[in-house]
Amino acid sequence: MSSLRFILVLLISLTPFSSSQQIQETFHQCLSNIQTPNSFFTKNDTNFISILNSRAINLRFTTQSTPKPESIFTPSNESHIQSAVICAKKLGIHIRIRSGGHDYEGVSYTSVTGPTFVVIDLSKMRAVNVDLADNSVWVEAGATIGEVYYRVAEKSKTVGIPGSICTSLGVGGLVSGGGYGSLMRKYGLLGDNVIDARIVNANGKILDRKSMGEDVFWAIRGGGGGSFGIIVSWKLKLVPVPATVTVFNVPRTLEQGATKILYKWQQVAPNFDEDLFVRAFISRTSDKTLSTTYQALFLGRGDRLLEIMNAGFPELGVKKEDFIEMSWIESVMFIGAYPLNTPPSVLLDGKPRSLNYFKAKSDFVKEVIPESGLEGLWKIMLEEGSPFIIWNPYGGIMSKISESSIPFPHRNGILFKIQYYSSWMDSGMEDKYVSMNRKVYEYMTKYVSKSPREAYVNYRDLDLGINGESNVNWGINYFKDNFSKLRKIKSKFDPSNFFRHEQSIPVLK
Ligand SMILES: Cc1cc2nc3c(=O)[nH]c(=O)nc-3n(C[C@H](O)[C@H](O)[C@H](O)COP(=O)(O)OP(=O)(O)OC[C@H]3O[C@@H](n4cnc5c(N)ncnc54)[C@H](O)[C@@H]3O)c2cc1C
Ligand SMILES: *[C@@H]1O[C@H](CO)[C@@H](O)[C@H](O)[C@H]1NC(C)=O
Ligand SMILES: *[C@@H]1O[C@H](CO)[C@@H](O)[C@H](O)[C@H]1NC(C)=O
Ligand SMILES: *[C@@H]1O[C@H](CO)[C@@H](O)[C@H](O)[C@H]1NC(C)=O
Repeated sequence: MSSLRFILVLLISLTPFSSSQQIQETFHQCLSNIQTPNSFFTKNDTNFISILNSRAINLRFTTQSTPKPESIFTPSNESHIQSAVICAKKLGIHIRIRSGGHDYEGVSYTSVTGPTFVVIDLSKMRAVNVDLADNSVWVEAGATIGEVYYRVAEKSKTVGIPGSICTSLGVGGLVSGGGYGSLMRKYGLLGDNVIDARIVNANGKILDRKSMGEDVFWAIRGGGGGSFGIIVSWKLKLVPVPATVTVFNVPRTLEQGATKILYKWQQVAPNFDEDLFVRAFISRTSDKTLSTTYQALFLGRGDRLLEIMNAGFPELGVKKEDFIEMSWIESVMFIGAYPLNTPPSVLLDGKPRSLNYFKAKSDFVKEVIPESGLEGLWKIMLEEGSPFIIWNPYGGIMSKISESSIPFPHRNGILFKIQYYSSWMDSGMEDKYVSMNRKVYEYMTKYVSKSPREAYVNYRDLDLGINGESNVNWGINYFKDNFSKLRKIKSKFDPSNFFRHEQSIPVLK
């Protein structure tokens, strides 16, 4: 790299600036050694908003009043990222890092508390290199997990990767917060399956696992994105999957006995064979009634699945006709809610299925919720209108991995995770839906984990606390006691708190 010229540009541009226009000009000048076209966008550019919104998944943070970056930089290689960090650091510019843009609170592309900022958007960095002989894949942070699924399946029908349910997530943020999908009871989280990583630190240096050291390597596999550096790429482990897997989607309404069925689900789903993942959805189907749906992935054929279901969960009453046998990549599409027979190549578009305004919260459950508790939940869901509620079973290998293995601490003893997901299509409805979501969450208090009330960092919820306020307990909710180790590592690795956002790991005072 022409580092001499680079330093000269830096020196020339190191004059104090006052207006936001000067910020962009100085930042742009500092990056002027990068000759790639279409990599720098300012508010003056006519396509600025479309670039900004191209990976902004929550419409709540795309309104006119949402604080916007001064500029967006889209690096196409590692050395561009290094330059951006060096420039931003020297010029005192606050940055936000974006890969897939699925952050629940939009911290990768807006800043509710911060000063002016620029976005480093990795959407051009999405190479996926599968190495079957090594059972691994190197993935650039801007790739979506769906692209990774596709590239892996293209090479072999009997390898897969533990990823996520939704296919449009960026691997930059997904792996940084743990990352779970329907293989989690068998193989754990994506964060449990990282072999190596490349990261740009606050001095613009590239580090790999060896040079960053085991503490930092521990912290970045689940400690949440945006705290330690810019992940350039991950090396992830591939796992074996059978050539034929089986899925089903079975709805049961209240009238069909959903209360008793869901009561039983809590007792069996976390204890099933590791090859079986059965999650449950609860949705209000009208102002009078609710429906539950059971969605499964089984790593095997239908005849064996039928035996397991009949023996362990006869209350659900599944039949062979409910099953579909398919390849693993087709099951990814099925679980990701694509219509049957959608060609997996659509995953290469990396586009979300739909966009809406949303607010979500999460909980972890350690004791079976009694039928009376479920009935209370139905009541409040019918009265208040309601979030869509998703229950994901734990157990299997999740109970065997130590709480200290990576920062993600929700392991042995967790029966299932709850997500309360409220979405709406009209910006004016925000207050109504957000308060409805909080009411259901409040009702659930006595049935979920306590001290701390555990939460999943990738379902970021700013209601839990924001940096700068005295309450940093949000970190305990996400990481339990691993939070203090994260803070120690942060204080050593990024003492000037260059990488920060509303819920980044705070340095120790
Ligand atoms: C519709 C939907 C479905 C979801 N389904 C699942 C699921 O099935 N399983 C699951 O585990 N999670 C799921 N999530 C949550 C998801 O894991 C998180 O939102 C995750 O942070 C998304 O990563 P991203 O790169 O797309 O997001 P971004 O918004 O780009 O980033 C999220 C956070 O990571 C930081 N970050 C991004 N890129 C980098 C990088 N390269 N280096 C360092 N920091 C970075 C950002 O600054 C931000 O703090 C879902 C989210 C949505 C919106
Ligand atoms: C990155 O891209 C620039 C062009 O902007 C090129 O000169 C440089 O060699 C590339 N660096 C790497 C490490 O690929
Ligand atoms: C943006 O536009 C204004 C006038 O419309 C101009 O003065 C300014 O120099 C432009 N800034 C950049 C960074 O191009
Ligand atoms: C990680 O968190 C768990 C749960 O709070 C705690 O038991 C463990 O000691 C922590 N590990 C480290 C290394 O801090």
